[in-house]
Amino acid sequence: MLLLVWAPSHGFNPAAPHGPSERGNIPSFKVMDTFARAVEIDRAVKAGESDNTLPVLHCEVGQPQTGAPSTVVRSACLHLQNDKLGYTSAEGVLELRQKISKHYKAKYDVEVDPQRIVVTTGSSAGFLLSFVGGFKRGDVIAVGSSGYPCYRNVCQSTELTVDTIKLNDDYKITASTLRERVNFRAANNLPPINGLILSSPSNPTGAMLEAKEMKDLCETCTENGIRFISDEIYHGIVYDKKVEATALKYTNNAIVINSFSKYYSMSGWRLGWVVVPEDLGDCFNSLQQVIRQLWSMINANEARKKSAI
Ligand SMILES: Cc1ncc(COP(=O)(O)O)c(C=O)c1O
Repeated sequence: MLLLVWAPSHGFNPAAPHGPSERGNIPSFKVMDTFARAVEIDRAVKAGESDNTLPVLHCEVGQPQTGAPSTVVRSACLHLQNDKLGYTSAEGVLELRQKISKHYKAKYDVEVDPQRIVVTTGSSAGFLLSFVGGFKRGDVIAVGSSGYPCYRNVCQSTELTVDTIKLNDDYKITASTLRERVNFRAANNLPPINGLILSSPSNPTGAMLEAKEMKDLCETCTENGIRFISDEIYHGIVYDKKVEATALKYTNNAIVINSFSKYYSMSGWRLGWVVVPEDLGDCFNSLQQVIRQLWSMINANEARKKSAI
């Protein structure tokens, strides 16, 4: 009789928990940690459980001072009362995508086919879609230092390699900054950069690429086979009547991400969009069919949570 005995050689016990995977073991988003702590202090003050009587002034997350515009709230109430609010198509309701397309025409004089627009759960879901759909495991994504910390964490959890680019003296990544880095990596036999992500206006520096800088950067990305992810979430929040440049004006290869969170004061609604290059359209649609149904990035929609209580 043959007796098969399974003897795990490295102490693997299938019944024991395994802990986080390498890609999931990302550093926490410090902003959200601080926010959670501040919310708890606020709650304790209001409940009279704290000696502190001073209100908490929140400076940690980029939270708008006001709620959503009253027209949005009125419309939401009407839909809540009158509609079934079931699933929608994965890329989002066509009417909204058409409105977003009109916004590009009115604000930037750029034609964007509504079919290229995918509505997401905030811009954060757009990062995930972009990194999963636009790159392969191990690809190198250039990220500015300083820049929005989530870029790095999402790269890690999608198994991409982050290449940190030091901002120039104006706190920007321009075409020449990028070219220098591309040349440095080539000279040192490092793998080429496959993607670049930045926000303009920037978080945290506030620096903004002028139109010519945006154009040059888009062209440099195309010349070097670098997929540009342009995070345009802070468009509209600028001083001195400066006009923001959208990457859409200068290239069809970029993935352009935006959101209702900041300019429209709707961070808790978890609503954003991505303008998808043609070659990624089908892929983003399929990913969105599963991602959007499962995950609401950063956190779940505030109204949904409150109404579920
Ligand atoms: C540069 C940048 N991009 C994206 C986000 C996240 O935005 P959303 O609420 O649309 O997911 C933030 C939030 O602070 C941000 O600063």
